[in-house]
Amino acid sequence: MKAKISKFIVPSLKDARKRLTKNTNHIHFKLDEKYLGIGDGKFYHLKTYGCQGNLADSEKISGILESVGYKKTDSDEKADLIIFNTCAIRENAENRVFGELGRIKSLKESNPQLIMGLCGCMAQEEKVVDLIKKKYPQVDIVFGTHNIHNLPEYLENCYSNQGRVFEVYSIEGDIVEDVPVRRDHNKKAWVNIMYGCDEFCTYCIVPYTRGKERSRLPEDIIKEVEQLANEGYIEITLLGQNVNAYGKDFTDRNYTFADLLKDLNNTNIKRIRFTTSHPRDLDDATIEAMARGGNIMPHLHLPVQSGSNEILKKMNRKYTKEEYLEKIEKLKKAIPSISITTDIIVAFPGESEEDFNETLDLVRKADFEGAYTFIFSPREGTPAAKLEDNLSKEVKKERLLTLNKLINEGYAKGNKRFEGEIVEVLVEGFSDKKDTLTGYTPNNKLVNFVGKEELIGTLVNVKIEKAFSWHLRGKLVE
Ligand code: SAH
Ligand code: SF4
Ligand code: F3S
Repeated sequence: MKAKISKFIVPSLKDARKRLTKNTNHIHFKLDEKYLGIGDGKFYHLKTYGCQGNLADSEKISGILESVGYKKTDSDEKADLIIFNTCAIRENAENRVFGELGRIKSLKESNPQLIMGLCGCMAQEEKVVDLIKKKYPQVDIVFGTHNIHNLPEYLENCYSNQGRVFEVYSIEGDIVEDVPVRRDHNKKAWVNIMYGCDEFCTYCIVPYTRGKERSRLPEDIIKEVEQLANEGYIEITLLGQNVNAYGKDFTDRNYTFADLLKDLNNTNIKRIRFTTSHPRDLDDATIEAMARGGNIMPHLHLPVQSGSNEILKKMNRKYTKEEYLEKIEKLKKAIPSISITTDIIVAFPGESEEDFNETLDLVRKADFEGAYTFIFSPREGTPAAKLEDNLSKEVKKERLLTLNKLINEGYAKGNKRFEGEIVEVLVEGFSDKKDTLTGYTPNNKLVNFVGKEELIGTLVNVKIEKAFSWHLRGKLVE
């Protein structure tokens, strides 16, 4: 056990809340030669929790580790380095990580050379860092979402036995370009277009853990997408916590998310998706850009969170149920084939039966074809955590069940409309059944069909024969 601490910069949610209007620094990553080879002969196991933003960060962490010599493994026993890239969005996400940290503690007894690291959104919370410092001595390195690119330095620090490293910054954040990336997929890629969030929905920890909204330059994004297309990638997903705010932080140009979609429309990439959209910022220009179609896929994830105007206000979402439904109408008119999915939180503090019924009513009217649904989880440091939680566990669970039943009807209905249609599928691999391939349609529907291995990674046409609740079954059109 390393008692010594060599670096100690810890987070503060209070500092993280501040938003200075300073210009964003664009840093170009360059690996210091002195770190080359520090991972030679060693294996890393990276465990990722949370959203697509974290999956994308993990691909960068892998890229950095592999450029200093480490090789990937999925085995804890084989690993010389285990890193947890964590999520703080709900309490159960955090509990899973603490459970895992406890479970693998004994690995250190059999392998004292093993290094354990923790990064991601949990590392941005002082409460978590404090607990790790005191109760989880098996963790050697804690670093945050703003300093992934310094990982080689922290590893070097551990290898030269200087003690545990805690280095987490509670800042607005920079943009770091040219970080090596080891992508998990060879046909689908994440492309960050912006980082951070300035929305401050009252329940949400993300604006505290990820810094302020800052957009990558369009030329850097377009260059990355063109390169991906040249390397044979078929589909990209543009990532940001609120992609519709893209470009609002530029001081030297007027360039919006709709402009970016238009420019990417002209690249050779075959499929473009994006997540996540904020309903207030989703504008007509974006809807128009989507309506042009082409490589922009007819699927939109538009988190609504609640159907009650009272609750939406308490959540600081800055739109009403009626405004949300109006946007849905516009979208359906402009892109008749669109599939819309959403996120909903039930049992926000003070949610009455009536409020909940408003949510059910909105779900019926919006015709969602899928949703992620959650029970409100208080996050320390956010305004909603201070509100009185007036509902029993039973009521919360019951509301979630009632909502999920309705959402599942939407899934089934959304699948049913493709029966008899011919759809294009990006083939991802075999399903659980031998001989059966699986992949996604433009509307993001899962399709299973019988086909040969060589189709994996290609776009094929499939005629849909039958719709089930969670997938479609079809036949290859040859
Ligand atoms: N930036 C995205 C998603 C953020 S997190 C957006 O604004 O839509 C993904 C989802 O987690 C949110 O949409 C919300 O539904 C849910 N979520 C966030 N904080 C939560 C909390 N404290 N309790 C329960 N669910 C939460
Ligand atoms: Fe959280 Fe709201 Fe930002 Fe989404 S828009 S990340 S829910 S604060
Ligand atoms: Fe979780 Fe952080 Fe993403 S809290 S949802 S990993 S931005």
